Amino acid sequence: METVVSGIRPTGNLHLGNYYGAVRSFVKMQDEFNCLFFIADWHSLTTSPKPEDIKRSARTIMAEYLACGLDPEKATIYLQSDVKEVLELYLFFNMNTYLGELERVTTFKDKARQQPDNVNAGLLTYPTLMAADILQHRAAKVPVGKDQEQNMEMARKCARRFNNIYGVEYFPEPQNYYFGAQALKVPGLDGSGKMGKSDGNCIYLIDDEKTIRKKVMKAVTDAGPQSMNSEKPEVIKNLFTMMSIVSSKETLDYFDEKWNDCTLRYGDMKKQLAEDMVNAISPIRERILEFSAKPEMLDEILAAGGDKARKSAQQTLKDVREIIGFKSF
Ligand code: TRP
Repeated sequence: METVVSGIRPTGNLHLGNYYGAVRSFVKMQDEFNCLFFIADWHSLTTSPKPEDIKRSARTIMAEYLACGLDPEKATIYLQSDVKEVLELYLFFNMNTYLGELERVTTFKDKARQQPDNVNAGLLTYPTLMAADILQHRAAKVPVGKDQEQNMEMARKCARRFNNIYGVEYFPEPQNYYFGAQALKVPGLDGSGKMGKSDGNCIYLIDDEKTIRKKVMKAVTDAGPQSMNSEKPEVIKNLFTMMSIVSSKETLDYFDEKWNDCTLRYGDMKKQLAEDMVNAISPIRERILEFSAKPEMLDEILAAGGDKARKSAQQTLKDVREIIGFKSF
């Protein structure tokens, strides 16, 4: 079975965009691959989070991913900081990665622009830690978004360079794994093309019915259809896209017809959309609440995941030390 690794950024709660865009595909992958998913808490130190937040966010993420269907019997879910082996591999990769290469990575340049007073070495070497995250398990596939392409290229470079320097075929070159048609792009409620973490734009899986209804009713629209069978403007297309994701085909067709014969009232459509969103999310939300009420269980799952991930990483580091010429243990 091929190994799949992916890191979860520990920032905030999951929203509908995360769910339909990625998490649902993770859930499918756990049946087909040897999956390791980890909470990237070491990476998060580039922005100095508070200790309380770090502790809380691990449990929150765990509860939400379990609620979405990740199964610790099938996939290994762990905390990055529970597996110290990754740091040793990170050091080895840093020794063979050039400053110029790291400075050219756009995610680094973006971050440096966002936090000009804190352009730390952790930000610069983010790609080598990410390479170590992946290669400590010798993973072949990595499900990540398009924005991670350059980081993935760096991971392949780390693998290739190590193999070349030592004349071995040890590390595979990890490939980006695209979900293809499985992944749905959920538009934002503010009329933007993508749901993201900002007020008035996104529906969180943890949102209750009232909140969902309120947010959906406030979604951006326009003056309404002006002529029969006209093309929908972007913001309206977005509403229909959301409906195509959470509602039945009949519902979608019904409102589509109303648009085409100019009798569509956005209020009615939003009410229906909110209803269908509530139905889609409620079961997940209930499971999040159930899991959140059992912090000991969440901690146990994380600990067990950490043990499994450590075993996998230890084998790799044993080999790597031997290849490099260090004592291996
Ligand atoms: N950089 C990824 C992101 O921002 C998170 C991440 C860290 C990751 N390490 C990883 C993803 C290793 C895949 C594999 O989304």
